Amino acid sequence: MGKNWKDEISTPALVLHYDLMQKNIETMAKFAKENNVSLRPHVKTHKCPIIGKKQLEAGANGICVARVGEAEIFAQNGFNDILIANQVIDLSQIKRLVELNKKSLIRVCVDSEKNILDLNQAASKKDVKLEVLIEVDVGLGRNGVKPGEPALHLANFIKKQPNLKLVGLQGYEGHLTSVLDPELREKQTNECMKRLVNTRNILNNNGFNMDYLTASNTVTYKFSAKYDGITELQTGTYIFNDEHYYRVSPEFNIAVTVLGTVTNIPGNRYYTIDAGLKAATNDNGNPIFKNYPKCKIRVMTEEHSIFRASPKDKFEIGQKLELYPSHICTTVNLYDFFTVVKDGKIIAKWDILARGKNY
Ligand SMILES: Cc1ncc(COP(=O)(O)O)c(C=O)c1O
Repeated sequence: MGKNWKDEISTPALVLHYDLMQKNIETMAKFAKENNVSLRPHVKTHKCPIIGKKQLEAGANGICVARVGEAEIFAQNGFNDILIANQVIDLSQIKRLVELNKKSLIRVCVDSEKNILDLNQAASKKDVKLEVLIEVDVGLGRNGVKPGEPALHLANFIKKQPNLKLVGLQGYEGHLTSVLDPELREKQTNECMKRLVNTRNILNNNGFNMDYLTASNTVTYKFSAKYDGITELQTGTYIFNDEHYYRVSPEFNIAVTVLGTVTNIPGNRYYTIDAGLKAATNDNGNPIFKNYPKCKIRVMTEEHSIFRASPKDKFEIGQKLELYPSHICTTVNLYDFFTVVKDGKIIAKWDILARGKNY
């Protein structure tokens, strides 16, 4: 019998199933093309320049990041069209952002006058013209200025800053990720997109010429892409999917698993595996077992998880098992590299270079 790829891996490990990921890349790229919207994947999910390049090769027009630290890593690795889909408030980070802008196109979202003044001042010191987007709070209630007049006020404020240029609007409907009913999710996505498009109309009726509207995520993209006026999707999780999102977007394969080893059998039907909270996060619920859906994790500690098996599933000490993470983005951030598996063989190790670069 041939050697099993699992036996060659030290656990816990992050395993990337190459073909499943490649299929996800193609599915989203094809959707964007057919619906005539640009695709700017959010790389906070994989934090890996090798994967970002595959997304660009499939037709993405640039990338989104969440943090300056991620932008730095991707810019160093040849990415020259980056949107920080977030605000950069801290002055030390603003300095780094402006520095980065001298080499690559790095845009950033704004939602307050104070931040606009800080960005303008830093940009003028370095003689840089910084391109910004106004983030509109389309319903999430996290970041962004309220739609309509408050956004117009901010746009006029940006216009007065010589080193800033307003190029677009961002709206992120992240609060809809847990709306399971597709009809309700569609209705609510449309309401969010309406807030963004109406805001654009108000700006354009007041002398602006705004047509770049970026929005969306892995569970709303089908609806936001079809909303007239939305020009770009900024989906992230689709690249790997996870146990939590799979319930809503099963068209994307779960392409990344955590591999663990059974280390103990502490009781009848109870097993210990060496994949705990340092191997998989549980902010969206505990991971579940690939191939053994009836096994349930009962406790997760730092280094271990204890699970209860169904009466029919029996495991041995030393046996390797794959888990589907419930939140892939926070799980990936725990690892230095992906072990890439294709056709039952390990084909590569890909460094997660922006792992931990959340500052
Ligand atoms: C501003 C912004 N845009 C896009 C995304 C991508 O969402 P998803 O990973 O669900 O596709 C996120 C995710 O956190 C986000 O914060």
